[in-house]
Amino acid sequence: MNTPMISPNVVVCDSSADAARYVADLLASAIRSQPEMILGLATGGTPVDVYRELIRQHREADLDCSRVTSFNLDEYVGLPSAHPQSYRYFMQQHLFKEAGFSSANTHVPDGMAADLDQYAKQYEQLISQSGGIDLQLLGIGHNGHIAFNEPGSAMESRTRVVELAEETINANSRFFESTDEVPRRAITMGIGTILEARKIVLMATGESKAAAIADALEGVCDPSNPASALQRHANAVVVLDPPAASRLGS
Ligand code: GLP
Repeated sequence: MNTPMISPNVVVCDSSADAARYVADLLASAIRSQPEMILGLATGGTPVDVYRELIRQHREADLDCSRVTSFNLDEYVGLPSAHPQSYRYFMQQHLFKEAGFSSANTHVPDGMAADLDQYAKQYEQLISQSGGIDLQLLGIGHNGHIAFNEPGSAMESRTRVVELAEETINANSRFFESTDEVPRRAITMGIGTILEARKIVLMATGESKAAAIADALEGVCDPSNPASALQRHANAVVVLDPPAASRLGS
């Protein structure tokens, strides 16, 4: 009899701080064992403490990120890299500068590219030419989006330009002066792109993510629920704090 593959694996830590440390340790040990690894990175509030811990390990525990190649999931269309709410700016501030990444090895989609469709294809090519992503870090939106793949995104989707859902614009408006300033479009890796990563680590904290997590792990696996794509991945782990896990099994 074949043993069914159970994915993703779920780890519930004691607190959001413990979850961040757990995820940081996963990333750090991957980097230590494979210093030239290809790392997929995410933005948002959730990974900030993960990145803080990586910076600490870089400063205090010899974590060498200089040979890591990174690919970020997504970027707003129309924000230059110097814009404080661009994801390139976020990554520079929260990780790359402080943890000793070599800037030539870091990739964040360019939301200012003249031909975005062509650029999206090039981003895919860059990922595959690098050998593919070894470990992809993910967060999750309240509506179950991963990267900027909103509900309705095909499970086979590739890097492309997307329209953001109203719910995402509202959720992300907390980082902008007003909702009107949030870009309406983004460039994002597709769900198909993400599923090709050899390992996926999704982190979620807080009660506001509990329903999306329960749907992702226990709901139907289809495009209405982008994060449910992880059910199709053989090597995915979901790291939660107790509030984010509170609706599992109910
Ligand atoms: C954004 C990003 C996602 C992220 C999500 C959740 O929309 N594109 O990659 O997972 O927000 O962000 P947060 O961690 O702030 O809740």
